[in-house]
Amino acid sequence: QKRVGILTSGGDCPGLNTVIRAVVSHATLTYGWEVVGISYATKGLQEKTTVPLTLHGLDLRGIDPLLSMGGTILGSINKGDTLAHVDEIMAGYQALKLDALIGIGGDGSLGILSQLQHQGNWQFIAIPKTIDNDVALTERVVGFDTAVNTVVDALNRLTFTAASHDRVMIVEVMGRTAGHLALHAGIAGGADVILIPEIPYTIKDICAHLQELRDRWGRRFAIVVVAEGAHIPDDSLNYAACSKPSCGIGQLIADELRNCSHETIDIRAAVLGHIQRGGIPSALDRLVASAFGKAAVDLIASGKSGEMVAWQNGEVVALPLEAVLAKSPSLVDPHNYLVETARSLGIYVGNLQ
Ligand code: F6P
Repeated sequence: QKRVGILTSGGDCPGLNTVIRAVVSHATLTYGWEVVGISYATKGLQEKTTVPLTLHGLDLRGIDPLLSMGGTILGSINKGDTLAHVDEIMAGYQALKLDALIGIGGDGSLGILSQLQHQGNWQFIAIPKTIDNDVALTERVVGFDTAVNTVVDALNRLTFTAASHDRVMIVEVMGRTAGHLALHAGIAGGADVILIPEIPYTIKDICAHLQELRDRWGRRFAIVVVAEGAHIPDDSLNYAACSKPSCGIGQLIADELRNCSHETIDIRAAVLGHIQRGGIPSALDRLVASAFGKAAVDLIASGKSGEMVAWQNGEVVALPLEAVLAKSPSLVDPHNYLVETARSLGIYVGNLQ
């Protein structure tokens, strides 16, 4: 009989509740354990605040909403001051009488949990989640697939309105350091230009590409996908030149592209923002979440600790968390097959150096 804590840490994403459901189901049905939901990540340990989790506890007419609900019923914190409260967190873990802990997080929050695990000598298993897809050594993480689909859906919508008005539509997507989301969604959503933090680009080259689309292919509209962390190109003006009060990279590029040619270019910028973090988890995210939740419980049953479940070659494996963190965040390799694919399809993805 074990009492296992579970918490969600860092920015939310679709599929977190699906992991919680899988952990509770497997731990209860297979092992007869009790699973304790910890509120608001490590803050819940610090303050000893929990959420009751029982099998079918949230049933509504036999429906388990956790399978398909976005967000996290446990709550989460992003960029908290966890390391200033280590003693209280250790005391909270003891007071809650936990035998083991499962933490669902991205590379930042898993790094903090790893430090706490060592200090408290906890039995700890990590599950990777992030819409940025930047946790190393795993081909899949919870939440990324749904976010890609959300952006592709937005691009479909924006394509029709852009085409109707002969406009260039700049679409800013999340991704502060890694451009996986912009790259995947840009290819799947039919972008003409994809700008990511890992690959430099110039406004001059974007202008030339848009011009070529018009002159050579008769295209009167274009879709530019830009990751929020894409660097401002050297040949552009700086943020001060941006005309909007809360100016992100999307708006900046829109302003720069207006000077592309003497012809007037009609340009609009859209920031997708936290829409990308919400929504019903996709089938793939539900599968990944369920498989990861099950694997985490089995790892605890076999006495493992300090490991992260990962997806490699179509299977769920366990890796030392420290090895994963040492290689995270994992960025887009500018020479990878997706960048090459995008270029082969005539998409401008910046300049290889
Ligand atoms: O880490 C995921 C992420 O979605 C980033 O792409 C984004 O910059 C960030 O979270 C925003 O998080 P928040 O607004 O919750 O601080």
